[in-house]
Amino acid sequence: MMSLFFVLFGLISIVLASQDTFTLYAYGSNISGSEVFYCQGIAKIGAVSHAHSSNVSNVYFYEEHGTFIANPNVTSTTARIAASESNTSWAGLKLYIPNTSGQPLGFTAGNSSGEITTGDWHFYGEYAFIENSAGQLESRFFAQPTDNDGVYNILWNLSDQAQLASPEVESISIRTIAPAGI
Ligand SMILES: *[C@@H]1O[C@H](CO)[C@@H](O)[C@H](O)[C@H]1NC(C)=O
Ligand SMILES: *[C@@H]1O[C@H](CO)[C@@H](O)[C@H](O)[C@H]1NC(C)=O
Ligand SMILES: *[C@@H]1O[C@H](CO)[C@@H](O)[C@H](O)[C@H]1NC(C)=O
Ligand SMILES: *[C@@H]1O[C@H](CO)[C@@H](O)[C@H](O)[C@H]1NC(C)=O
Ligand SMILES: *[C@@H]1O[C@H](CO)[C@@H](O)[C@H](O)[C@H]1NC(C)=O
Ligand SMILES: *[C@@H]1O[C@H](CO)[C@@H](O)[C@H](O)[C@H]1NC(C)=O
Ligand SMILES: *[C@@H]1O[C@H](CO)[C@@H](O)[C@H](O)[C@H]1NC(C)=O
Repeated sequence: MMSLFFVLFGLISIVLASQDTFTLYAYGSNISGSEVFYCQGIAKIGAVSHAHSSNVSNVYFYEEHGTFIANPNVTSTTARIAASESNTSWAGLKLYIPNTSGQPLGFTAGNSSGEITTGDWHFYGEYAFIENSAGQLESRFFAQPTDNDGVYNILWNLSDQAQLASPEVESISIRTIAPAGI
């Protein structure tokens, strides 16, 4: 049911040409290509205009040695929200995966530590995966609703028990393909 995360065996990842930029979108049963954006250092999905925060921006990424490096997409951010509500002053933050199950993905200026992993991102087609220490590509992403309608946190690696306890959380894939019609 909920835990339709997947693991690919073997090293079959595809690396984009360096400096190609891309935007990330989440897809799940009720989420059809919601954009990943920056909100106070946390990675959220949905419309940046619904985040009700003054510290938000749309982002684009490029891949470098397995790290997804983000920059604010000033064009799309200023098209959607007032400059006073956005934060496009930062640059070059890395998208990280929390080490602890059930914590949100976010953006950091630092490197991998005991708490977070900034590396090991890989693509298989347009799907983003994390490569584990055994060389398998894993997609264990979940969307957790927030108080803001249509805005979700992205959680990593929820246990079966945590999924059962939180039926509002849904399994998602993260892809570089925009939904049809955008
Ligand atoms: C914006 O978010 C960043 C990252 O969490 C934080 O360091 C900064 O203090 C925030 N700014 C405001 C005004 O809340
Ligand atoms: C903008 O985001 C950067 C990176 O997280 C943070 O260091 C900075 O404090 C934020 N600025 C404001 C005005 O929130
Ligand atoms: C910024 O967002 C716009 C609108 O979604 C998009 O067309 C553009 O390609 C993005 N910029 C980058 C550098 O990805
Ligand atoms: C992160 O690692 C890179 C490459 O090893 C290094 O150049 C950089 O200074 C490190 N950044 C921080 C904030 O530690
Ligand atoms: C999480 O952090 C601990 C302590 O730093 C480390 O031993 C462990 O390997 C990490 N787990 C993952 C999945 O990175
Ligand atoms: C996922 O969480 C489980 C514990 O619930 C842990 O044993 C496992 O190493 C984690 N896997 C990853 C890839 O983080
Ligand atoms: C997805 O939408 C359906 C229909 O609105 C609803 O019954 C279901 O609970 C939703 N699933 C999640 C995980 O929110």
